[in-house]
Amino acid sequence: MINKRRKFIANLTALGLSMGFSSIANPISGKELNKIIEGRIANSSEDVTEDEGFWKTIRQAYPMTANNINLNNGAVSPSPLVVQEAVNQYMEMCNINPSYYTGRILSRTTELTRQKLAAMAGSESDCIAINRNACEALETVIFGIDMQKGDEVVLSKYDYPNMINAWKQREHRDGIVLKFADFSPFEKDDAFLAERYTRLFSKRTKLVHITQMINWTGTLVPVRKIADVAKRKSIKVLVDGAHTFAQLDFKIPDLNCDYFGCSLHKWLCAPIGTGMLYVRKEEIANIYPLFSSPDSVSKDDIRKFEHLGTRSVPIENGIVHAIDFHNLIGAKRKEKRLTYLKNYILEKAAKLKNIDPTMTSSQGSPGAIAFLSFRGTDPNKMKKILEARYGVYASFIKWEQVEGLRLSPNVYTLKEDLDWAFKGMEDVLSEK
Ligand SMILES: Cc1ncc(COP(=O)(O)O)c(C=O)c1O
Repeated sequence: MINKRRKFIANLTALGLSMGFSSIANPISGKELNKIIEGRIANSSEDVTEDEGFWKTIRQAYPMTANNINLNNGAVSPSPLVVQEAVNQYMEMCNINPSYYTGRILSRTTELTRQKLAAMAGSESDCIAINRNACEALETVIFGIDMQKGDEVVLSKYDYPNMINAWKQREHRDGIVLKFADFSPFEKDDAFLAERYTRLFSKRTKLVHITQMINWTGTLVPVRKIADVAKRKSIKVLVDGAHTFAQLDFKIPDLNCDYFGCSLHKWLCAPIGTGMLYVRKEEIANIYPLFSSPDSVSKDDIRKFEHLGTRSVPIENGIVHAIDFHNLIGAKRKEKRLTYLKNYILEKAAKLKNIDPTMTSSQGSPGAIAFLSFRGTDPNKMKKILEARYGVYASFIKWEQVEGLRLSPNVYTLKEDLDWAFKGMEDVLSEK
């Protein structure tokens, strides 16, 4: 196996596609690679989910990943070559004359970016604000919505810690009341999950905060089911879509939510430091921006959420290129491949000797995130050994009732990467 892997890395290096120095000398540009991928798509059958050759071509757009098995895409994902090259070029332009290029030339892309994000989201472009990450998007709503002492917010203890902390700050400052939905993060029954939220709705409930895909375990929370009940009771719905936007193929308005925040540097593979906020048109006027906007910006203009001060315009300009690359692969194709890789992980995990099936993700729902828990094995030690000996990067998770390894592959992940990761896990589990 080790020899096979070495041969694989050697082959990639020969192609100029391996990690590090060889990739710096990579003679193929991102644009040329995109053409090759276009050709591959045109000549492939409709369903390429299990076509490793196809995904090997996609992987070539991520040259730095070749001998670094990154299974922590749930944290941040690398950008494809075409995005990296564009950002580098924008950065060079800005360094000629920063105020001219950032303020007069590159800032013109903002409306195009908004429009392209809106097309992906299935919304009007006037509902989309561009910002730096999911925290900024979600905290704009958390701190910007008007609430009185005693108003209630329903959320869950499996929401992202920054979001829980933001709500706790409002609890502390404004006397709002937080009610936490209680469930197992491995729950599969949608009706049961929805009921855990809706049973907490009362006359004082002002908003429900729903993490669409729980980052720890990959569990999908049935947003629509909860939102439909909330709407009947005039409760606002805020969705944390950090792990669903550009990972799953859906449109935001279909969730029946009022607000949706996500990062773009996770599943869209946009440059690090990019995010998006969707606000339903009629709701824009009801949310104060985190950074104040001038009087000239109307209260119902989504752009009021973008008054940040000096920002990284080259990074923001990279978003359009990431959307184009995402569209080149195709949202449905991508979702199917990611789900296939997760299921492959879970099939292999089921055969591991110390796996605890009761605290491990199960197959059946779409998405890339798999969580594995072990009996009698320290998952943090396992993570460290995988990293040091096998060059495999997984994420150690310890939160509430879950403790284990999270594996989150991406479009550049091949089955042989997962085989290698499992070889590492088997070795660790067989050591005493
Ligand atoms: C569910 C969830 N929400 C929000 C965030 C915050 O994302 P960002 O770091 O882009 O602000 C994360 C990050 O991992 C997350 O998993």
